[in-house]
Amino acid sequence: MGNRIRVKAPATVSNLNCGFDVIGLALEEPFDTVELELTGTGRVEIEDIRGCDTLSRDPEKNVVGKVLEAISARAGRQTGFRVVLEKGIRPGSGIGSSGASAAAAAFAAGQLLGNIFTREELVRFAMEGELLASGAAHADNVAPAIYGGIVLVRSYEPLDIVELNIPSELWCVVIHPETEIKTSMARGLLDSHIPLQVAVRQWGNLAGLVAGLYRDDYDLIGRSLVDFVAEPKRAVLIRGFRELKESAMKHGALGAGISGSGPSVFALCRGMDAAGAVLKAMSETIQATEVAFDAYMSPVSRKGAQVC
Ligand code: HSE
Repeated sequence: MGNRIRVKAPATVSNLNCGFDVIGLALEEPFDTVELELTGTGRVEIEDIRGCDTLSRDPEKNVVGKVLEAISARAGRQTGFRVVLEKGIRPGSGIGSSGASAAAAAFAAGQLLGNIFTREELVRFAMEGELLASGAAHADNVAPAIYGGIVLVRSYEPLDIVELNIPSELWCVVIHPETEIKTSMARGLLDSHIPLQVAVRQWGNLAGLVAGLYRDDYDLIGRSLVDFVAEPKRAVLIRGFRELKESAMKHGALGAGISGSGPSVFALCRGMDAAGAVLKAMSETIQATEVAFDAYMSPVSRKGAQVC
């Protein structure tokens, strides 16, 4: 390994309705790219940010900067990095924009330093970026962005990341309305306590989702994609959310909901044809609201952060 590397990390859909902060999956696109150079100066320098003009180049105020500073501190020797960040994922989109940057930075630095960290350690470093971006060090975007696939954060303390089975026909559709929702604000809407009965319904669904993934049981996956915790509070933030969800379900989605903290709306589907039909229906629905949007469909990507 020389002293330069280029790494990309994918967008992710977290929560999957029933797994607030504990489950997420990787998409094939879009993605963020980090070009990293090991400088030995002991400093983190963000040389350029492409594809977005609202992010700070001050390492203290930038997700990538925070991740690299944490890694430098842990590496225990004079490191220092120069970075160019290329944003393919719009900040505040709900598909893990900060998570992808953080994941790419952590993976790239780990490689440059001779692959000295485990993937769980890389997730820990990337969580520093999430802490800056959202005020909470959640791992449900950075873990799938590093590992790829569908990933469960079984525990935060200690961190325990579990890779889950990916049913071969599972596809994901994402409609990204071009409005921004700050994750910190969307988290602020949530109750810090939930009634026991709500918790019972929620964890029943999360267990059902995991069982469905292992049994390739698409109906069970669909039945389990219900959110009693975040969606009731956050749906009001997304114009046309109900209509988008209804059109996805009417056109054959297994389930649909808010991707991460929104505004993106996701749907899981069985097979590419079903995903295509849902993408078309949801696109037509959002067109009626006259909100500009991007649309993606992708099988679950088995690849997370990777050299490119
Ligand atoms: N689990 C996080 C949240 C994801 O819903 O706040 C943010 O992308």
